[in-house]
Amino acid sequence: MPAAPAIATATEPTSSPSQGKLDLIRSQPYTDWAPQVTPEERATLRRELEQGAVLYFPNLQFHFQPGEERFLDSRYSDGKSKNINLRADDTAVRGAQGSAQDLADLYTLIRRYADSSETLVRTLFPEYTPHMTRAGTSLRPSEIAGRPVSWRKDDTRLHVDSFPSNPMLGKRLLRVFHNIDPAAPRVWRVGEPFGDFARKFVPKTHGMWPGQAALMKLLHITKRRRSEYDHRMLQLHDLAKADLDYQANVPQQEFHFPPGATWIVFSDQLLHAAMRGRAMMEQTIYLAPQAISDHTHSPEAVLARMLGRPMLVS
Ligand code: SIN
Ligand code: FE
Repeated sequence: MPAAPAIATATEPTSSPSQGKLDLIRSQPYTDWAPQVTPEERATLRRELEQGAVLYFPNLQFHFQPGEERFLDSRYSDGKSKNINLRADDTAVRGAQGSAQDLADLYTLIRRYADSSETLVRTLFPEYTPHMTRAGTSLRPSEIAGRPVSWRKDDTRLHVDSFPSNPMLGKRLLRVFHNIDPAAPRVWRVGEPFGDFARKFVPKTHGMWPGQAALMKLLHITKRRRSEYDHRMLQLHDLAKADLDYQANVPQQEFHFPPGATWIVFSDQLLHAAMRGRAMMEQTIYLAPQAISDHTHSPEAVLARMLGRPMLVS
């Protein structure tokens, strides 16, 4: 059993007491997926994103081509997966059903969203470009509220994103969301800064058993060896979702993303919960941790400080 770590909770920067009410939404004026931005504006956007804010683009529309509106209907989902997905290098979508033409049109739509999202991120954060990898894109055409899922998969509970089978090894999860439903808002809750969250829950997490990472890889429980970073992040995800008192009482903010809105977050850092909404598109980008300029709030840096050792070794 790994030695119990000395956990340095006291040294974590705290949110100022005057913060009181959370206000994590930073509204942006841009209307184009390759907007004109000044270096000063870019620096502000990057600082806010890395501090854990939501960059919110109320007027950044993603337009359907004629006929694509039909994909707002969840009948194109195959019923097994909740999302229709496109992996970065694939030429066909997964999780969908329909005619060959439907599947080709779904590919075109989702691919266009992937290209638009990547253009947006490259334009706003050119310093990230050498460190980023396009990951999955999804269309989520089902109402979130009232879905029967286990507590661990229940994204209506506040959580940070972390995947049991897909260790990130410290790579960051940058996500571009778009509410593609023409009528209903997508309603999220967002919660306290990662450092505050970590201070409460990291002391309840534990390290891996010797050989555990190798065994999980061997048994195909994980795609590659899980790092301590991933092991702790997964526990933080579960501990937050399992704690109903925390869910109810943590400082939090509800926000309604209207139809046609776009938003960008580090979803491994921002506590978030999706409460209601009918149709969304989402692009995931992996970002190598050296791309981050402000390590005050990033999860791998917070965990390394609290546990007293680097997190980015597997
Ligand atoms: C999530 O990342 O937890 C879900 C986001 C959403 O479906 O709006
Ligand atoms: Fe999530």
